[in-house]
Amino acid sequence: MGRNGQILRISVIGTGYLGLTHAVCMADLGHEVLAIDVDAEKIAKAARGESPFFEPGLEPLLRKNLDAGRLRFTDSFAEIGEFGDVHFICVGTPQVKDGGSADLSYVFAAAEALAPHLNRATLIVGKSTVPVGTSRQLIERARAAAPAGDLVDYAFNPEFLREGYAVQDSLTPDRIVFGVTSESAENLMRAVYATPLASGIPALTMDLETAELVKVAANSFLATKISFINVMAEMCEASGADVIKLADAIGIDERIGRKFLSPGLGFGGGCLPKDIRAFRATAQDKGVDSLVSLLSTVDTINLGRRDRVITLARQALGELAGKRVAVLGAAFKPNSDDIRDSPSLAISGRLADEGALVAVHDPVAMANAARVRPDLRYAESVHDAAKDADVVLHLTEWADYRAIAPAALRSIVANPVLIDGRCTLDAAAWRAAGWTVLVPGRP
Ligand SMILES: NC(=O)c1ccc[n+]([C@@H]2O[C@H](COP(=O)([O-])OP(=O)(O)OC[C@H]3O[C@@H](n4cnc5c(N)ncnc54)[C@H](O)[C@@H]3O)[C@@H](O)[C@H]2O)c1
Repeated sequence: MGRNGQILRISVIGTGYLGLTHAVCMADLGHEVLAIDVDAEKIAKAARGESPFFEPGLEPLLRKNLDAGRLRFTDSFAEIGEFGDVHFICVGTPQVKDGGSADLSYVFAAAEALAPHLNRATLIVGKSTVPVGTSRQLIERARAAAPAGDLVDYAFNPEFLREGYAVQDSLTPDRIVFGVTSESAENLMRAVYATPLASGIPALTMDLETAELVKVAANSFLATKISFINVMAEMCEASGADVIKLADAIGIDERIGRKFLSPGLGFGGGCLPKDIRAFRATAQDKGVDSLVSLLSTVDTINLGRRDRVITLARQALGELAGKRVAVLGAAFKPNSDDIRDSPSLAISGRLADEGALVAVHDPVAMANAARVRPDLRYAESVHDAAKDADVVLHLTEWADYRAIAPAALRSIVANPVLIDGRCTLDAAAWRAAGWTVLVPGRP
């Protein structure tokens, strides 16, 4: 038996940040799991017990479940189709090139590769974030291509995990959402999640369309909250007020809440930016102009934070060409090596494009960053990045950077100017050590 009830045979299609975490956590719940990816290198690495990306706590759990024989990897869709009682689709849904909408080609390709191997009653579960209406299209296509035809059922089960906390969020989520069209699909989903449900985590069952909208609505709300506090930061800067004190004072109201109310460089990563743009595209298609306008504003405010840091850098440096810029952080957020739509890397790239000599440090994301921006210099340590720098930019708020001794760093830079794009360093301590500290939104 699994930890709590029936052991199911679960397949996971796509083993990126979402899929590998999901596969490992499903195995840890006691299920038998077989996972596939089109990236052979990723599969080989995972099968050796090495996570292809940095996620705290994931690798030990991967090894534990490989050793227990509950988790395996394959490159064969025939094997996946034969194996699974439930098939989770976890492939990417990035933004299409030259547009805001979601690229659904990977999702449809995964379903098309799987369907011809479905010979018996089975459940396909969409976990990738998709525009409303996608699940209905997927189920039609899968049933048309599957030998089992209408015995193939479909559910949508959005994922809310945060990179950096992915394991804990997968094993003990705030809620589990089931978008279904049949009672049998709901019952099977309840069996998949029997252990977390038994611990009291709420399940919310709804139609497919509502479940699809829940995911993008949640991300849009979070993005809006971040952009809200960032326009407050602009207002504070224009008024000589302090946005951190403002955030503390309004965030204490439980209707508002302090989380996601930290001013700074705004959001990036593989989810929020592309999800709000895809949602805007869907709203446009459906003629919901007020949502188009809201999400456009949120996006514009967010991207404006990057411009603001570049303006501050210009103020500090004058001409950018030939100036040495040390950048602390490359990942889109701490505790992750994900550099997709990283604000830090976008700023670093723009400064380098204007002739600045940019040296970037990050505890774990430099290899990924170097693949995207090989022209930047990647420094082995904070010291190496900051040596002879004309300005230091703090752009990803790793805990390591809060431990920097400002006086020691001052002794190696050419100019002691810090721009704290994330508003998380102790500005008073840096100033006391002789630094000029510029923080967007603070006096
Ligand atoms: N990363 C997160 O924190 C997170 C959280 C919630 C939801 N999501 C959603 O999950 C989905 C996946 O995101 P991700 O961050 O894991 O992306 P990712 O790029 O890390 O992973 C996607 C994986 O799918 C694989 N793939 C592509 N086509 C395939 C196919 N036809 N068959 C098998 N594998 C295939 C790719 O090789 C890749 O390994 C997206 O829709 C995303 O919005 C992500």
